[in-house]
Amino acid sequence: MTDKKAVKKPALKEWTPVEKVILERRSIRAFKKEPLPDFMIRRILEAGRFAPSAGNSQPWKFIVVNSHEILAKMEEDARKAAKRLMWFLDYSRNGFRKIFLKPYTRLMIRLSPNELHPVPFALMREIAYDRAPVFHSAPTLILLLEDTRGVSSPPTDIGICGQNMILAAHSMGAGTCWIGLIKLLMYDRKWKKQFGVKYPYRLNNCIAVGWPKVKADGPVPREVQLVEWFEGGMDDKPRIERQGE
Ligand SMILES: Cc1cc2nc3c(=O)[nH]c(=O)nc-3n(C[C@H](O)[C@H](O)[C@H](O)COP(=O)(O)O)c2cc1C
Repeated sequence: MTDKKAVKKPALKEWTPVEKVILERRSIRAFKKEPLPDFMIRRILEAGRFAPSAGNSQPWKFIVVNSHEILAKMEEDARKAAKRLMWFLDYSRNGFRKIFLKPYTRLMIRLSPNELHPVPFALMREIAYDRAPVFHSAPTLILLLEDTRGVSSPPTDIGICGQNMILAAHSMGAGTCWIGLIKLLMYDRKWKKQFGVKYPYRLNNCIAVGWPKVKADGPVPREVQLVEWFEGGMDDKPRIERQGE
């Protein structure tokens, strides 16, 4: 391997402040009761507002939920929705359900492979049986609504926008967690009305923010990526590098 190709992983102190935030950020699932001060939430929103978007279309709308009453109701209703969903889909409860529900559940998973991927499926089952929270008792939720009329790929723009917010929050010592399962509330028209989720908007995702109650565990492992580097001519094969080792 030539010097040019040698990959030396820098020690953590050699990373830039931005890289450090990226590498050190972890999802936080235990928050102090006290919310972040409003000025910090506004700065987090500002980081989202400055995100790039296709054609600068900025296909988003932000909603901040700080109200104890509304947060408690959201938790309750999301749990109820998980219970309803699992009543129809969880065939593992007994032999009778296994025989009659399994084919139906399999069809639903095929129709909705992302929403019913084994990871959210398992989490929804935990929520349905009161073994896990939905919103982790976060004192603040930031809802990210997507303007479906955006240019090219509004979901991509929302992802970038949310990640800007999350990194900004972590750079300030706050904790965050994406809560994709907020979508459980969208089975209920009441919540669509509450948050104005109607054309051209749809609820894309949600970020829980607050002061972390505990230090996050160690990093969740990331897969080593086999990256193809095209460095020669058109007919040359790429060099494959194991990124992350
Ligand atoms: C789009 C998206 C949705 C997520 N939804 C949830 C969720 O509903 N509940 C939850 O506890 N974590 C959720 N997460 C957090 C992931 O589980 C977490 O990012 C992943 O396990 C990696 O861990 P880390 O964030 O600590 O590095 C979500 C993450 C993303 C990016």
